[in-house]
Amino acid sequence: MSGRTSHLAINGGTPVSPTPIPFMHTALAQADIDAATAVLKSGMLRAATRCEELEKRFAAMTGARHMMTCANGTCALQLAYEPLFKAGDDVLVPAWSYIATVSMVVARGANPIFVDALPDTMQIDMADAARKVTPRTTAIAATHLYGCPVDIDAVQALAAQKGLKVIYDCAQAHLSTYKGKGVGAFGDAVTYSFYATKNLGTGEGGAISCNDDALARQIKLLRSHGETDKYLHEQVGYNYRMNDITGAIGLSKLDRLPAETSSRREIARKFDAAIAKIPGLTAPATTPGAEAVYHLYVVQLDPSRFSCTRDVFCEALKAEGVPTAIHYPRSLTRQPAFAAQAAKQGHPPVADGLSKRVFALPMHHMLSPEQVSRIAEALDKVARAFRV
Ligand SMILES: Cc1ncc(COP(=O)(O)O)c(C=O)c1O
Repeated sequence: MSGRTSHLAINGGTPVSPTPIPFMHTALAQADIDAATAVLKSGMLRAATRCEELEKRFAAMTGARHMMTCANGTCALQLAYEPLFKAGDDVLVPAWSYIATVSMVVARGANPIFVDALPDTMQIDMADAARKVTPRTTAIAATHLYGCPVDIDAVQALAAQKGLKVIYDCAQAHLSTYKGKGVGAFGDAVTYSFYATKNLGTGEGGAISCNDDALARQIKLLRSHGETDKYLHEQVGYNYRMNDITGAIGLSKLDRLPAETSSRREIARKFDAAIAKIPGLTAPATTPGAEAVYHLYVVQLDPSRFSCTRDVFCEALKAEGVPTAIHYPRSLTRQPAFAAQAAKQGHPPVADGLSKRVFALPMHHMLSPEQVSRIAEALDKVARAFRV
């Protein structure tokens, strides 16, 4: 231990926050519990009016014509992918995302073509995507990662030029906008997760939006065994339905989502200002024209500027009362699940490097101004102690 680090809490010094600051907030409000209880008392437990109402309201709030709720965000991807591309197709995917965006491409029998990330926004690099189009490429599956929309104009331009379908994975970006429009206005389909920790979290749950009537019908059929009338099945499908308990919680939480999103944005602006003063740390950049919703606030640490690794830096923050999380510890081409593809395609370098640089700060609407200040103070304290 050097003299410069002896005052850190990890070395026995006084922590910036004596009680750990919660990394996330997933507790239900009484209104959510009441909404779920009303469904339980009604006995209507399957997908019914609560799911329909959630679909109607969430579609309007995200700028989409159709919204179909479903069991989770992974099912949402499957329901979107199945009608939009086929087995054997090449599909452009981000090398830097959560696994589901890509694993469902593989589940469809298609070939993921891994595209690098941009170093500042950490979103899919559309110049790299353009270089990787093959004669077999039929679709782009892009993730609005951490709550920040990708360069939608660039995605749509490449799609128009090459005749590609576009699916946006919006599991982390509820209510984000691009050039003043809800992200539901863009692409062939947009998918959502309502997993417990998401900005709109119902426990499990998901949805797909689209603006094409025929595609919406197709997705509804796939969602429920291709059923067009009681026990009449027009085609093979799945049971990927939501239920009304989940729908009621989602509807109740949807009332608060705009205000909670504003809080996240305000907190992000404070983090941005604090990080701008700390050499070696970089705040997440936003795609020009996009308004992010900060599902995660992901900082990058330049390892050459500190005498410790990112992991030790995060351990020191934790001791100061500031928990962090790594999204993600490896890029997708480093996942054993995609070893065969990586052997042929290699590892897109920016995405690969991000795994050693990123860490997420606590981010949720319940963070108090005092807690936000403490987080900034802890970042500064740890960064000064480890600066080279
Ligand atoms: C970007 C992304 N896509 C897809 C999913 C899958 O959603 P779910 O967990 O609801 O299946 C998640 C959830 O973590 C996600 O973050």
